[in-house]
Amino acid sequence: MYDFKNCVIMNRQTSILTLLVTFVSACGAYYFFKKRNSKRPPKKWRKLGYVKSLYIYPLKSGSYLDIQKVECGKFGFSLPAIENMYQLRDRSFMVYSEAHMEGKWIGIYNKMVLIALSSKDQNHVLLEAPEKYALCVEVPTQNNSNVKTIRFQSWSKDDVPIIDCGDEASKWLSQFLLQKDSGLRLGFHDKPFYNGLKMRKGLYENFGPVMLMNYKTMTDLNAKLEEKVTDAYFRPNIVLDGPDLEPFEEDNCVWLKIGNVVARNFFDCVRCIAITVNPKTGLRDKTREPLKELSKYRMSNGPRKGPKMGVYLEVINPGTISVLDEVYVGIED
Ligand SMILES: *[C@@H]1O[C@H](CO)[C@@H](O)[C@H](O)[C@H]1NC(C)=O
Repeated sequence: MYDFKNCVIMNRQTSILTLLVTFVSACGAYYFFKKRNSKRPPKKWRKLGYVKSLYIYPLKSGSYLDIQKVECGKFGFSLPAIENMYQLRDRSFMVYSEAHMEGKWIGIYNKMVLIALSSKDQNHVLLEAPEKYALCVEVPTQNNSNVKTIRFQSWSKDDVPIIDCGDEASKWLSQFLLQKDSGLRLGFHDKPFYNGLKMRKGLYENFGPVMLMNYKTMTDLNAKLEEKVTDAYFRPNIVLDGPDLEPFEEDNCVWLKIGNVVARNFFDCVRCIAITVNPKTGLRDKTREPLKELSKYRMSNGPRKGPKMGVYLEVINPGTISVLDEVYVGIED
C-alpha cells in the first residue's frame, strides 16, 4: 500500500534536511570567499609542505624553464638577475595574430608548447623549436610610438598593450605554427596591467600573477588516468609537495608563506583544453584527457566554472623562493 501521509512527512523531513545542508554549505562557501578577500595576513602559521619545483614560461603558452630560485614580485616571477643577461619574466612575451590583433595560446596552436624562449645576452632572447633554426630576437624597449593595443585572447574582452618584436620573429613563428611566412607576430611587454577577470595585475598570465599546484592533487588525478600526466601539462609556477600534504588541501588554504613571500589564494585555476596538449610532443589527446577525468570530480564553485587544478596567488609580500623552501598555511586567529 502506498502510504501517502508518511510519504509527505518523509518528503518534508528530506526537504528540511536538504535546506539545512544547503544553508550550512552556503555559509561555508560564504565564509571561505570572505576569507579569500581579507587583506590581513594571519599571525599563526602551520607547516604544509615544501616547494617541489619552480617554473617560468617566458613566452605565454611556450615551453617552461625549470628553475631553482625565483624573484617573486607582485606581478609574478622573474629569474634572478644575472649580469649581462636579459632578465626573463613569466609570460612577458606573447604570440599574436596580425589580422585580428589578438593574443594566441596553446588551445589554438598546440605546437606553441614546443617553443623555447631563453636569454641570449643583455638585450636579446633566443627562440628555439624542434627542427627549426634558432633565432636571436632583440627585446624592444618602450618608446612613444611602439606600443600597440591588442585583444588579450579570443575568450577575453580585455585589451592589453604589446610591443612588436619585428619581422624576423614574425616569419619564424608563422613558419613554425602556420607553415606560412606571415600571419603571426611576437609581442612583448613587461609593465603590469589588469587582465583576465580584471581582478589582479600580472603580465600575460590569464587570471593572476602566480599559479600554485598541489603535487598530491595531480597524483590523485594520475591514479585515475591510463596515460599519466606531468607538471608541464598544467603549467604551474610553484609545485607544492610534502609528506603530510593531502590531495585537494590547497582548496582550503587562503594564506600561504613560501620562502619569505606571503601570498593569498584568491581564485581557482579553472582548466580548459590547454591541458590536453602533451608538452613533449605538442599533440592534443584525442580522448580529451586529463580534462575529461578532472571534470568528473574537481569542479570549481566559481566565480569561474569548470574543472580546477591549482590556485592563483596574489603576492602580498614579495621576495625570493627556492626549491625545497618550506611552505606554511595561515591559521585563523
Ligand atoms: C620606437 O621603437 C621602435 C622599435 O620597437 C623603433 O623602430 C622606432 O624607431 C622607435 N621610435 C622612436 C621615436 O624612438
